[in-house]
Amino acid sequence: MRVLLFTGKGGVGKTTLAAATAAGLAARGSKTLVVSTDPAHSLGDAFGLPLAAEPAEVDSCLHGAQVDARTLVDNVWATLRVQLRSALTGAGIDALDAEELTVLPGVDELLALTEVRRLAETGPWESVIVDCGPTAETLRLLALPEAVAGYAGRAFGRRGWMARAAGAWSGVAESVERLAAHVDGLRTLLTDPAVTTVRLVLTPERMVVAETRRTLTSLALRGIRVDGMIANRLMPAPGLWRGSAASWLRTRRNEQEAVLAELRRSGPAEGMLRSVEHRAAEPVGLPALLEIARELYGDADPLGGAGGPATPLLDVSETESGFDLRIALPLGRDAAVDLARVDDDLAVTVDGFRRLVALPGPLRPCRVTGAESDARGLLVHLERTA
Ligand SMILES: Nc1ncnc2c1ncn2[C@@H]1O[C@H](COP(=O)(O)OP(=O)(O)OP(=O)(O)O)[C@@H](O)[C@H]1O
Ligand SMILES: [Mg+2]
Repeated sequence: MRVLLFTGKGGVGKTTLAAATAAGLAARGSKTLVVSTDPAHSLGDAFGLPLAAEPAEVDSCLHGAQVDARTLVDNVWATLRVQLRSALTGAGIDALDAEELTVLPGVDELLALTEVRRLAETGPWESVIVDCGPTAETLRLLALPEAVAGYAGRAFGRRGWMARAAGAWSGVAESVERLAAHVDGLRTLLTDPAVTTVRLVLTPERMVVAETRRTLTSLALRGIRVDGMIANRLMPAPGLWRGSAASWLRTRRNEQEAVLAELRRSGPAEGMLRSVEHRAAEPVGLPALLEIARELYGDADPLGGAGGPATPLLDVSETESGFDLRIALPLGRDAAVDLARVDDDLAVTVDGFRRLVALPGPLRPCRVTGAESDARGLLVHLERTA
């Protein structure tokens, strides 16, 4: 089974492209489930069909579902919140403060993904396509498994804390354990590149390039592999048309092409960028979605990456004094490599070709202390300052 997560900023076309990809896979005979974790739920609208929490048949080989975290069977987070609130008020904390203390944004979306995992593992699916929420939200929730597991492990000392917890707190301890178990399982699924990969959806606009690079680095930091990017709403090429409308289209298209070229030059997008043209009418319903799938993948298998590198470009691991950043660059034996910090980026120059690597939050306060290269690329050592 393969899992593809579709993410990107709000409104860029995640739902449409996830639905189109699923339709394309089903048309090739792959047993496919397409599922949305976005509380806004427009997956049903894309197919022009009502969808619910349990998979419903959309076409032969194709099922669709919309997961709503608020109605999950094992809503461990809702239980935990209630328990935490009563334990906190019992400990003398004002009810309103207790309410605020128990808000942890993103957890609902995280639990929606645990439901996707359940659906993925209990059905006959060969492909599971997930329509995730907007990038920022998704990224935060993808970081959560580790955050929550680490938090539960360190702060509570797991079993030790459970054994000591008494009264109202023992219920809390149990729920924290359950939540940690959920997110541990999720992390295993999300960070296995043989199973789960991410497709980043974007629109070809200036602002997007820098943000896309940050998203890529950030996902690499979390061990999640991006194996494709899709530029949606590319203006149709006006061909030989004349007149002001054609000239507007031509200008717009040229600008978009320039952005895409910059994205390719900036590194990781190279070889894994596909595009979809802006349709005159909203692509709703199977025939329109299948047409998008054809534009995206042609005769190729939609599960295949777009010819990107087989290993993740960036890989971050924690060391005693900081981090090791591995950059999977194809380096010639006598390649000239130069590294420099440019604000929050690391500029990597190989034989005069520069690649800016956006450093994710935790790496920014670090300084580069050394680097070496081997068959797998570059290994950069970073040390925490202060
Ligand atoms: N290539 C396209 N041509 C024309 N219309 C499109 C195209 N792609 C998407 N749309 C339309 O744009 C709107 C937004 O697309 P979609 O719902 O897929 O975006 P989204 O990223 O899922 O949005 P949200 O962040 O709100 O979930 C929809 O009405 C959809 O039909
Ligand atoms: Mg959507």
